[in-house]
Parts: sequence; C-alpha cells; structure tokens
Amino acid sequence: MQSVIVKAPGRINLIGEHTDYNNGFVLPAAIQQAAIVSISKRTDNQIHLTAVDIPDELIIESFHNLSVSEKQWANYVIGVVAQIIQKFPLPSGFNLAVTSDVPIGAGVSSSAAIECAVAFGINELFSLGIEKMELAFIAQKAEHEFAGVQCGIMDQFASVFGKKDHVVLLDCLNMNYQYFPLVLEGYQIVLFDTGIKHALASSEYNTRRKECEQGVALMQLKYSNVTSLREANIEMLNECVDLQKDPIVYNRCKYVIEEIDRTQKACLDLQANNLESFGQKMYATHQGLSKLYEVSCPELDFLVAHVKNNPAVIGARMMGGGFGGCTINIFQSQKAAQIINDTRVAYEQSTGKELKHYTVRIEDGAGIL
Ligand code: GLA
Repeated sequence: MQSVIVKAPGRINLIGEHTDYNNGFVLPAAIQQAAIVSISKRTDNQIHLTAVDIPDELIIESFHNLSVSEKQWANYVIGVVAQIIQKFPLPSGFNLAVTSDVPIGAGVSSSAAIECAVAFGINELFSLGIEKMELAFIAQKAEHEFAGVQCGIMDQFASVFGKKDHVVLLDCLNMNYQYFPLVLEGYQIVLFDTGIKHALASSEYNTRRKECEQGVALMQLKYSNVTSLREANIEMLNECVDLQKDPIVYNRCKYVIEEIDRTQKACLDLQANNLESFGQKMYATHQGLSKLYEVSCPELDFLVAHVKNNPAVIGARMMGGGFGGCTINIFQSQKAAQIINDTRVAYEQSTGKELKHYTVRIEDGAGIL
C-alpha cells in the first residue's frame, strides 16, 4: 500500500464525565463529524504535513528527530508519530494532509479525532499490526506529551471503537466495554455550542486530576485498597477528607464518586428504556459538574437552566472537559425546531453571542475511507 485515506470521528458522551481518569465508567459514542487524513509513503525520512483547513504546512527533516512544534495542529500528528516509533520502527517518512469538520474547542474531541486518524492511518499504511486498543492509548499519550493535557482515555477510545447507532459503556478500570443500541424513538440528541472555546481547560483539567489524586491519597491512609476514586465511597470520603478543612478536594471527590455510581445506574435506565430517569441523571451530573467539580461556566449553566423546565426536554448537561464547549440535550423530535429556536433567541439575548447547534448522528469509529 502506497497511500491511505482514513477518518476518525469526534465523540459525544451521554453520561460519566471526568470519571475516566478516576477509573470510572463513561458512556460515549462517535459522531458524524470527523477528521480525515490522507497519508502516502515517501522514499526519504521526511514528514510533510499539511493542515488543509487553516491552511498551513510543516516539513520535518527526519522522523527520528521529533520535538514539540509551535504549530499546535502539528503537535497532534507529531505526538502520535513520536509514540509509534518508540515501539514500531517506520521504514520511511510520509506525506500527511489533514482536514476535519469536528468543531474545535466545542468539547467533542476534535484533537482526539486527529490523533486517532493519524494513528490509524500510519498503522494501515505501514502495516504495523497495532491493535485498536493500543492505537487509542498511543493517541492518548500523544495528547499527554505533545498537547500537555493529562486526559483520560474516553475520547480516543470512542473515536476508535465507536459503533453506528450504539453507545459504548467503557469501564476505565480494566478497559472492558459493552455496546448498547441507542433507541431514542421520538427523541433526538442535540448539542448547543456556547461558542466559548475552553481556553482554561488544559490547566484546570490537570488541576482537577491532581485534586482527585489528593483525595485518594488521604483515603489511602486508612483504606489501603483505595487506589483510585473507583474504589472509594461517600462514607470513606466523609471519614478521611474534612469538608471544612479541605472543601475543594472533598467536593471534587464527592462529585466523582457520585458520578461513577450515577453512570452505572443511568445504563440500567437506558436498558429499561426509562429515558425520563436517564434525563434526571443528566441534570444531576450538570449540577455536580457546575457546583462541586466547578468546570462549568455561566453560558453552559444558562443553556441547561433554559431547557430544564421544558417538558419536551428529557435531560441536558454540559459535556466534555468543560469551561465552554457544548451542552448535550435529549428532546422530543417533534418539538426540536421550536426548542432550538427558543434557546437560540434566549441565548443571544442573554449573552450577546450566537448559538450554534448540532443534531447528532451516531456513527462508526475510525476506519479506512
Ligand atoms: C476531556 C478528556 C476526557 C475526559 C473528559 C471529561 O474530553 O479528554 O478524557 O476526561 O474531558 O469527561
């Protein structure tokens, strides 16, 4: 094979937010918006990169000599190559062009889409034989080391393992996963995009991760089997972390412990086709993310509050890392046009900002085009 074109999608997450790096559960799905990369072999060791949408280019003299670039988009590619070559020698350099319609900074994993497309594409082009799970881990490591975000595995997993019309319950403790058909008869999933790019997100994200680790360390003093918040419960938290002395660590841990529990229960709701109950859990998640985990922002809170009392809306919450990006909403298809319109007008009046929306279609994960 001399060249290959692959695509890898962005993702939504129905419930289970900020739980992946705490060994909890997540319930993501891949969406129709995707990154597409075209890769062809070269006869030398150079890497020629093109970002079609910006447009921009970068030439790297040798894949043996990779470092973080000033061009952020290029780091998503270079980071993946740097991971791959640690274990799988490349026979030559390559030309790679990337384009994507995954909205950037909207909390739907535009970066994971590029990383996964690159990992998948290089694996195919050079027949490296890397397993799908390892591709997801390679893409995650690229984000850690070249983008500086200590992200969990959810986004890259969803981009690689997504399945049309299914959500996937992933247990981040052992990477076991299970697909569920998403049957939403008469309902649809719509994302409202605040238009706020999550600029604070990477530093605050890494801070949240540390705060969770601090909580685990405190509980471990008494409960040695607690190695992550997955093994903790509220009683242990109350016993080991003082709400008065350490309110931040306490609240972060409380949210995560509750969310891990809520996600498992929400899956039972979905299996029982109890959308009503599922939707209530989405609101509870939002409340926790906003008040305990403090990763929301006024615009996200506004969008959730605006739809909350509408009987045609099943549930809504902020989605992804936070500090901007999208809310995810489930509402009656019949009322969709009206809800979207009302929300747009209200949002524009309240914030002066334009409200974009995306009607979600759930698609397959990464693959050759
Ligand atoms: C970002 C990260 C994910 C996950 C979510 C929050 O999207 O990349 O690993 O932690 O935030 O659930």
